[in-house]
Amino acid sequence: MSSKVSRRQFLSYALMGTGGFMASAMLMPMVRFALDPVLQPGSDGEFIPTQQKADDVTEVPVKVDFVIKDRKDAWYVSDVADSAWVYRDGDDIIALSPVCKHLGCTVNWEGDANHPDMFFCPCHDGLYEKNGKNVPGTPPLGPLDQYEVEVVDGFVHLGKIVPNQLVD
Ligand code: FES
Repeated sequence: MSSKVSRRQFLSYALMGTGGFMASAMLMPMVRFALDPVLQPGSDGEFIPTQQKADDVTEVPVKVDFVIKDRKDAWYVSDVADSAWVYRDGDDIIALSPVCKHLGCTVNWEGDANHPDMFFCPCHDGLYEKNGKNVPGTPPLGPLDQYEVEVVDGFVHLGKIVPNQLVD
């Protein structure tokens, strides 16, 4: 058998190589998207400490900033700043993700004077009730996600992000 590569074979190898490269370029973002939940805080079961004292949490949501230490993102490791909207509901402490379920902007509590007692997304006027329920007729089609919450030595610790448990 000859080890020579015909022009036709060379062309098909070259096309396969190019096709493979293009396919991997298209698949990488999908793989990254699939892995993303693994990269979120508390994804390995740990809870991230915050500076928020549990006793100071009231029924009015407050923005709690925290830092995820040594977050691995592809090839590099870094500290990542994040936040949650935290409030008290009876004996429970609720922590909602600030990430709008429309296109991912950041929502603010009472961010619009015309809609008190609501979360407002400034990007496309998205509205959510205090429990994270999206208001029909505004762009978001689902409720805000929640963080798992633990109180450790009097401080709020946040676990992984889970689908909203407060909305029917
Ligand atoms: S990103 Fe929030 S309403 Fe569009």
